[in-house]
Amino acid sequence: MSKEQIGKLIHAALDARSRAYVPYSHYAVGAALLGRDGKVYTGVNVENASYGATNCAERSAFFGAVEKGVREFEAIAIAGGMEGKAPVEYAYPCGICRQVMKEFCGKDFQVIVAKSENEYQIFDLNELLPHSFGGGSIC
Ligand code: THU
Repeated sequence: MSKEQIGKLIHAALDARSRAYVPYSHYAVGAALLGRDGKVYTGVNVENASYGATNCAERSAFFGAVEKGVREFEAIAIAGGMEGKAPVEYAYPCGICRQVMKEFCGKDFQVIVAKSENEYQIFDLNELLPHSFGGGSIC
């Protein structure tokens, strides 16, 4: 991906982040998932008074895209931090979200964790979830 494409994806994640529903943790996360169709699918964390019912931003983005018939992806940008403030740390995806990425993405899927459009780190999924369990392990 070019720097420009990465910047646009991060911008979409930061924009989505402002719509996170986080009345309990006040930790707002935005994700922007780039489909192989060239479209961007965003997601935010949506919390719940029954904490276990909370959905992470990354999974919200994946589930929204899958609902639209998209199952192949290139990259995801993730930005998180205290609600109403710019991110100060990188928001690495949780284990459950990494497993959801594994369901739909290959080892070279790019995970971009960002503080801003110019400050980010890129990993491929294999780095974040090595020796993973997937559909191929069952069949
Ligand atoms: N969260 C995400 O949205 N993505 C992650 O990968 C980790 C955590 C959210 C869930 C919860 O709303 C808040 O961050 C604090 O855990």
